[in-house]
Amino acid sequence: MVAWSARVSHMTEYRGLRPEEWDQAMAIWTGVFNVGSWYFQSINDGTKGRRSEDTRVAVVDGRIVSTVDVFYRQLRGLDGNPVLIGAIGSVATLPEARRQGHSGRLLEDAIMQMGERGCAWSFLFTGVHDHYERYGWRRVPLPYRAGDLREALSDLDDLYEIRRLQSPYPLPDFLALYDEFNRHRPLVHIRSASYWQTAIQVRLDLPDRRVWGAFADGRLTGYALASFSPGEGGSVQELAYADGERAAVLPLLAAIRTAALDEQISRLTVTLPNDPAINDALDALLERREEGSHPWGMARPIAEGVSAENLQSLFAAPDAHNYDLDAF
Ligand SMILES: CC(C)(COP(=O)(O)OP(=O)(O)OC[C@H]1O[C@@H](n2cnc3c(N)ncnc32)[C@H](O)[C@@H]1OP(=O)(O)O)[C@@H](O)C(=O)NCCC(=O)NCCS
Repeated sequence: MVAWSARVSHMTEYRGLRPEEWDQAMAIWTGVFNVGSWYFQSINDGTKGRRSEDTRVAVVDGRIVSTVDVFYRQLRGLDGNPVLIGAIGSVATLPEARRQGHSGRLLEDAIMQMGERGCAWSFLFTGVHDHYERYGWRRVPLPYRAGDLREALSDLDDLYEIRRLQSPYPLPDFLALYDEFNRHRPLVHIRSASYWQTAIQVRLDLPDRRVWGAFADGRLTGYALASFSPGEGGSVQELAYADGERAAVLPLLAAIRTAALDEQISRLTVTLPNDPAINDALDALLERREEGSHPWGMARPIAEGVSAENLQSLFAAPDAHNYDLDAF
């Protein structure tokens, strides 16, 4: 796509990023989002089959002024089967080039790309919903639970040894547990081994992350991930356990509770699936409970035959879940 502005003869192109332009795009992302380059680099490196042109750019007189990334991912559908979706990220326009329609043009271009690639639908996270509503994305629920940590917890049996884990993490074991626990779960990202090694690894290594493992006879039967920001609070972001090991959930969450209290954190936000063992453990762990939905999720049908109602049903499915670690 090439367009000439009528008033001043600037040449504008809307197209895929060229490999040699990577540093230019990275400078826009780190500048606009105030996040380190590791964030963008790791999702790029971890996305299987990623191509440079999956980053869509607006180029004015040879300079990139606006970007929209499409990450092609397999997520589970309502029936648990993999579905190709387009995850939209890195939506940014340089401050001096805003309100000229660049981002809107790139979103239209991304919709076309996702259609050509055979995506069923598109997913994004945002605080500026209006921008995307104009192009057909609609809000979708991302449920969470929260509550105060109970002061006392009844005695736990000691079937499991709960250990705080440190980097390097046993990623292949995590992957196996994650895949088993989520094998039918709608909405979850089917993570490749390379995604674990790049995108997940770097997120687990962030200073606010804490990881625990539940061991039985020396074998890892479950893991849990929390993020603690003293002064701000804690969140439980991921937990998975092997078939038949539901009893590992309470001791894992109890370990998070103890560590949180040690760090003067008394309230947890929990973004874990609606799972019977997790629900029971949360009843034991939290009081003054609250349930809500994070406001930032949006989705848009791409393939013919997928409707906005289909997507609402997918997100509202009782056991559907989107993990925080899969943010893009
Ligand atoms: C959000 C963001 C990407 C929008 O980029 P942009 O290139 O300015 O987007 P557009 O020009 O397509 O649309 C922005 C506004 O300009 C308006 N606009 C579009 N073309 C225009 C034109 N020729 N003249 C005047 N206004 C125009 C749009 O109607 C829209 O108006 P609104 O904000 O009142 O709804 C940009 O503001 C940004 O980088 N923000 C910081 C990062 C961010 O928030 N990213 C999204 C997070 S998910």
